[in-house]
Amino acid sequence: MSKKEFPENFIWGVSTSAYQVEGKEDRGVTTWDVFAKKENAIADKSDGTVACEHIKRYHEDVALIQKLGAKGYRTSVAWARVQPNSSKEFKLSGLDFYKKLANELLQVGITPSLCLNHWDVPQWFEDAGGWSARGNVNIFVDYADFVTRELGNLVKIWHPHNEPNVVAFLGYGWGLHAPGETDRNLALAAAHHLNLSHGLATQAIRANFADLQIAPIVTMQPIVGGSSEEDIEWLDQLWNRCFTDPVILGSYPDKLAAALAPWLKNDDLINIKQPIDFFGCNHYTAMRAAHGSPLSVYITKTEAGLPVTDMGWEVNENYYFQQLMEFKTRYGNIPVLATENGCAYPDTLSENNEIHDTKRIEYYSKYLSALHRAIENGVKVLGYYAWSLIDNFEWSFGYTKRFGLVYVNYENQERIPKDSFNFMKKIYNSNALYE
Ligand code: GCO
Repeated sequence: MSKKEFPENFIWGVSTSAYQVEGKEDRGVTTWDVFAKKENAIADKSDGTVACEHIKRYHEDVALIQKLGAKGYRTSVAWARVQPNSSKEFKLSGLDFYKKLANELLQVGITPSLCLNHWDVPQWFEDAGGWSARGNVNIFVDYADFVTRELGNLVKIWHPHNEPNVVAFLGYGWGLHAPGETDRNLALAAAHHLNLSHGLATQAIRANFADLQIAPIVTMQPIVGGSSEEDIEWLDQLWNRCFTDPVILGSYPDKLAAALAPWLKNDDLINIKQPIDFFGCNHYTAMRAAHGSPLSVYITKTEAGLPVTDMGWEVNENYYFQQLMEFKTRYGNIPVLATENGCAYPDTLSENNEIHDTKRIEYYSKYLSALHRAIENGVKVLGYYAWSLIDNFEWSFGYTKRFGLVYVNYENQERIPKDSFNFMKKIYNSNALYE
């Protein structure tokens, strides 16, 4: 058996997001509430009304995080709790939950981090054009300013957006996520405005407290095949470079620069390229490009015969290594936090109420070994947050896909730690992977 030790002060954590776990109590209507009602939008016709009742059961969930030995917990703020009805008013009590949560985490030595947009924007924001409307950028910045002013004394790590690539392209281009649009111009406009709002929000947040850490989060997956070299290159620019090149390098790559020109104004790139404290890298699998869709390219299925998770996503940890190495080469050695990685498998309860999720254990073991290899090869990895603490609402798949280290019985909200929970617990507590 070999032991792979992780660096000193490596942060082991877990991630969730507001819409996926909280439940609707005391919040305004979000774009996902509305999208979920569309025919065929969600596999099991569900939505986030109840989710995992995290808002009521957070004591239990914090206790689980503690039991796991995690030292970091990332979730998101539901914007619609803070501005349920319009951009004109802020509801301070909408932040009560996050204050209580942060205090409770801090008391037991767990560092909270919050994302300001994990996709569930208020419906009034979407009705006004959502991310495709430039005029909405400042509305997000004001919200970011308000929230960080109120919570910045407790929460020191902030992520303006989670996976803007998913928001812009799945939301406005491929129609698979809220708001369900399939329009090239809306998608490209949304992409640029998400970048601009990242930069302007970063400036506003920094002005509130000097000791906050700010990091973008993008899901990065290498494009490993596809219909043509051209399609592969275009998908790579859209997916892997659109939200990193301008933020880190201050420019868009060539094809994107041409495509985004109609939306780019004078100082936009200067405003977007703001100092970041680290980069949040989400990674799950590799991707293949196919020609078509309003964006000229889309992500196609893994070819038959390769090992896949319940999402149909290929399991190959070498792509994780490759992604991290490519990131280092392209952007210099910026510190990276692995903000999400994990897998869905169809878990079943055994007779004595246990979940023997050996495939998930194998997945984590392989991906953590690839992460370790990247660290050995010089990538500055600050920590690793598994997706997810608990099973939750998996967007257009509803509750049919389970990503948790903890099983959630949706009939009674019982939480049952899976075998993978115990596997990760050992790693989290020893700061090492044993193989
Ligand atoms: C994501 C999201 C999560 C998903 C997870 C699994 O980053 O894609 O942050 O909300 O649930 O990635 O698909």
